[in-house]
Amino acid sequence: MYNNNPTLENIPKKVDETKQGEVFFKEGEAAPTKKFYIESYGCQMNFSDSEIVASILQESGYGPTRNIEESDLILINTCSIREKAEDTVRKRLRIFDKVKAKRPGTLVGVLGCMAERLKAKFLDEEKLVDMVVGPDAYRDLPKLIASADEGHKGVNVFLSREETYADISPLRLDSNGVSAFISITRGCNNMCSFCVVPYTRGRERSRNSFSIVAEAVDLYNRGYKEVTLLGQNVDSYTWENPETKEKVSFAQLLVMVAEVHPDLRVRFSTSHPKDINDEVLFAIRDYENICNYIHLPVQSGNSRILEKMNRTYDREWYIQKIDRIHELLPDCAISSDIITGFCSETEEEHKDTLSMIEYANYTMSYMFFYSERPGTLAAKKYEDDIPLAVKKRRLVEIVDAQRDASMASNLKDSNKTFKVLIEGDSKRSDQDFKGRNSQNKMIIFPKKDGLKKGDYVHVKVTNMTSATLLGEIVDNKEA
Ligand code: 5AD
Ligand code: SF4
Repeated sequence: MYNNNPTLENIPKKVDETKQGEVFFKEGEAAPTKKFYIESYGCQMNFSDSEIVASILQESGYGPTRNIEESDLILINTCSIREKAEDTVRKRLRIFDKVKAKRPGTLVGVLGCMAERLKAKFLDEEKLVDMVVGPDAYRDLPKLIASADEGHKGVNVFLSREETYADISPLRLDSNGVSAFISITRGCNNMCSFCVVPYTRGRERSRNSFSIVAEAVDLYNRGYKEVTLLGQNVDSYTWENPETKEKVSFAQLLVMVAEVHPDLRVRFSTSHPKDINDEVLFAIRDYENICNYIHLPVQSGNSRILEKMNRTYDREWYIQKIDRIHELLPDCAISSDIITGFCSETEEEHKDTLSMIEYANYTMSYMFFYSERPGTLAAKKYEDDIPLAVKKRRLVEIVDAQRDASMASNLKDSNKTFKVLIEGDSKRSDQDFKGRNSQNKMIIFPKKDGLKKGDYVHVKVTNMTSATLLGEIVDNKEA
């Protein structure tokens, strides 16, 4: 549990070098008697939420397992953002049902964004699950499990205006022991017309700044070297200290986390273009350990479509933002999310998105075709009138344009030397390490004796693909 008492004195500011190394179970704690298996889909926020769920379950005597066959509790943390994500969950639930048939007594629970939308369907019509738990109701899990054990189906999809799980210390699942997520806000107030998140995750709330810093300190003490501050819209973070009434902005929070230790890298995601301001850019400029990387989804490069999407900026305004970032932070990489084939999008308007990829020089993008979500503003107001074949063809063109932009950006890195945080062995060869530079680009390079994951090295880029840089370790940055 983190200290939630909002006074700076209570926060362990100094890191304790003797506490390095991962702790899975607390010392003196009995090995858990029951096991849970959890699968997560969707955004990083969902993966981060699964770690909160894991912590709550561990407190009530459940330990994690990667083997579904030996689990007493199977959980699936779901995503509703596109139809495809929902289809995947349905398929998995049918497989879980077969596991359950072989192992009677095993409970199955649906967590996350699909919970609210589809609770009745899951429990009554499909009869596949024992409990349905929304993103703000995870504290209720032990109670819901107990009642499901007695044969009562459990549901809690209540969306809270306060819940931030600030005091819960996440149990790091599938961790590389080097990078971790810290969730700083929950929900979203933005109402982009295509997006279901405000309905599935509720209103935006910011977490107590001190508990965020405490989590970063704790991670550093356990050997982690990189934290990513997570939220649907991190730049609108604002937390008021109830005692002093002082407000902490996102830029101030970034600095507080950066000051935990110069060797702890700080990243953040996602930034809405309307909310990222100069203060944030100055923090990136002034702190070497705040990474030179901004995920700044454009969604569309055309002003008419942006207006229909309710993004609150137009093409010119977004371009000015990009220019400002490049002016203040010449080495900063920018990435994006793009939706193609939104309601009524013309060929000309689609070309505006292609040209935006080129202008912004995105190092990478997450690219999707529009998928209508029930209940959203777009579903109510606009016709989903772009044929699937056209959406798919436009998506191919966007993916191609992004591949060219990524290659062009990687070519510019040729012969440059970067400080890289080693994340572990490369997927292809245990003779190579993989790691990232400040710009969030993955670099593969041959190992050298005495180095291990979590170390920083300088790597000179010698070759590349559009997805990855290849390089070799050099002695120092000037080499
Ligand atoms: N259809 C397609 N993509 C969507 N996204 C959000 N809603 C939809 C939708 N209805 C994308 C946006 C967002 C990312 C997380 O998912 O690009 O930034
Ligand atoms: Fe959805 Fe827009 Fe909020 Fe992102 S900012 S979660 S796209 S409503």
